[in-house]
Amino acid sequence: MPFEYEVKGTILKAEHVSVALSGVPILRDVNLEVKDIVRPGKVEGQVVGLLGPSGMGKTTLFRVLAGLDSPDAGQVLLGDEGKPVERGMVGVVAQNYPLFRHRTVLGNLLVAGAQSGLSGEQAKARAMDYLRRFDLEGQARHYPPQLSGGQRQRVAIAQQFMCSENLLLLDEPFSGLDPLAVDRVAGLLEEVSCMDELNTIIVVTHDIAAALQVADTIWLLGRDRDKEGKVIPGARIQPASRRCRRACRSTNGRSSRRASPRRSNPRATWWGEPCAWPLRR
Ligand SMILES: Nc1ncnc2c1ncn2[C@@H]1O[C@H](COP(=O)(O)OP(=O)(O)O)[C@@H](O)[C@H]1O
Ligand SMILES: [Mg+2]
Repeated sequence: MPFEYEVKGTILKAEHVSVALSGVPILRDVNLEVKDIVRPGKVEGQVVGLLGPSGMGKTTLFRVLAGLDSPDAGQVLLGDEGKPVERGMVGVVAQNYPLFRHRTVLGNLLVAGAQSGLSGEQAKARAMDYLRRFDLEGQARHYPPQLSGGQRQRVAIAQQFMCSENLLLLDEPFSGLDPLAVDRVAGLLEEVSCMDELNTIIVVTHDIAAALQVADTIWLLGRDRDKEGKVIPGARIQPASRRCRRACRSTNGRSSRRASPRRSNPRATWWGEPCAWPLRR
């Protein structure tokens, strides 16, 4: 059953994005638009999943969406005013969670706060708030090499929220995690997305079950075939085929170990364009 929601302004839009690496087309005319979704009576942001198999070009698209790389053609625009994205405008959590090794966890967050123009006091208050929310208070004085992978990831997410305005992109946040850790990260992303109505988290992943668990909207990245059935190089946003929906539904049903507590508080889930299809929740 679809849940009530209203689609408001544009948060991020990719228009005709194409990228070739060493002459090989990786992305071919990728179009997607993430809109602000408002659910009546609820203060909730959203999690958007960008799903595709390994090697499909997800990291390439991630870098373009984050303004880290320029596409060969097309553009990425932010907000209703359509500002072209530039490095630093979007929070970015890359796969390996880069942190300053010679600074403590708190120090890493303070640097991020200073970069975004917060006063020392404001930065400290905000950093302490994130450390508490992310269950990292005990690690405030630790250095990155002393952290577990999961802790490092949480610091990296907190660091990005210190300096970014509501929009956060994560590349493969579930890779290399055991199922329990996947649950924790999924829960954390949901929590972060709900801290503010405008918070939007875009998660790039090849993990279908994890994507279904956290995402309100899923975009599929795949390759088209020509009339003879031959694969056309370069990934595009795909409509959710019947096969894919079936696969997703069965994964969804199977992954009860990953059932999110928020299932009891269902969120609308639907496919991104070009195929709007609400997922059962
Ligand atoms: N510098 C490069 N030159 C040529 N091909 C590359 C380069 N970097 C990545 N690729 C290719 O681009 C494709 C997409 O890579 P990537 O975006 O990392 O995929 P994903 O994140 O979906 O696994 C892969 O097939 C990869 O081999
Ligand atoms: Mg990748």
